[in-house]
Amino acid sequence: MVDLRAQYERIGPEIDTAIKSVLESTAFIKGADVRLFEEELQHYMGARHVITCANGTDALYLAMMVLGLKPGDEIITTNFTFISTVEVVALLGLKLIIVDPDPGTFNISVEAIRKAVSPRTKAIVPVHLFGQCADMESIMELARLHDLYVIEDAAQACGTDYIFRDGSKRKAGSIGHIGTTSFFPSKNLGCYGDGGALYTNDDKFAGKLRSIANHGMKVRYQYDDIGINSRLDTIQAAILRVKLKYLSEFNDTRRALADQYDKAFASLPVEIPERAGYSSHIFHQYTIKVKNGKRDELKKYLESVKIPSMVYYPGPLHMQEAYRYLGYGENDFPVTTALCREVLSLPMHPDMEEEQIDHIISGIRKFFDNIN
Ligand SMILES: Cc1ncc(COP(=O)(O)O)c(C=O)c1O
Repeated sequence: MVDLRAQYERIGPEIDTAIKSVLESTAFIKGADVRLFEEELQHYMGARHVITCANGTDALYLAMMVLGLKPGDEIITTNFTFISTVEVVALLGLKLIIVDPDPGTFNISVEAIRKAVSPRTKAIVPVHLFGQCADMESIMELARLHDLYVIEDAAQACGTDYIFRDGSKRKAGSIGHIGTTSFFPSKNLGCYGDGGALYTNDDKFAGKLRSIANHGMKVRYQYDDIGINSRLDTIQAAILRVKLKYLSEFNDTRRALADQYDKAFASLPVEIPERAGYSSHIFHQYTIKVKNGKRDELKKYLESVKIPSMVYYPGPLHMQEAYRYLGYGENDFPVTTALCREVLSLPMHPDMEEEQIDHIISGIRKFFDNIN
């Protein structure tokens, strides 16, 4: 699905030098590269503050900690996301309210949020799924109307632009009160281990996030807040400084590959990813929809001709054993349930060769030729 080996071959010498310099400095925690990476990412993102942390799940956890919410406060998010988005809500004793996404963009439905808002709602967590923004302008308007916080889960959208109605643009993650991201190795900006970050334009949140990500400590051995240990280590920061320089180029390549897929699949009985007018797309995943119960058959066929594909996500969150306690019924989320049966993500990474993409396209064509 991704080829991290090919990427390492491309930028290996720069990565090796970056890692070696950390090894020689021995500043493995809070070394200079961490601060420099935060500054460079802040510049790239156009956010006032970037606070790095240990992974994207912690970033969400820290974001919710800093809002000072109380057990039972309600958080609205999408049912169609990676588990991290919802598990942190549960871990903090907050009440999880999940809603269906829009069937075209896969992103949280603004209409569904509107219906789910109650007097106990405190925050909305849109997820910019597969590399495309949720409808942030509408979500921010709704949040202002009800005095809610917005935490953007931008783990899959590092570099995506949100386009406002007046034509201005902001990076995904820099629009809400707090944005979060992940540097998991397969992400568009990934490190060689775990890593994450938070974005905010609010000075107070930024100070507190920095503190609670480091045991609640502002001055050494003085604890103003109850915190956790969640830091990006210096080696990962050094790697990310190298990779950030290539992010725009790599995202452009992904977009060009997506265009190729789009064109090839236009005549096939699959739905290509819908592109919203208010967002660019960085194709963290290129995800098609295969109707009429043919998705699993297609996946099996592709496996047989050595073409990888993945189902993100195979089961709706409300049907997972761990989340049964929410009390949702099987038929409560028809859009999520249908998507879980229809979506299929295809290989997508900036080191894909022409031969590889041709092989994937012709494999999918053959499958549909054979069943016709
Ligand atoms: C949408 C989303 N949110 C959160 C995360 C969590 O990131 P991490 O794996 O770094 O904890 C991921 C990563 O896979 C993700 O895709």
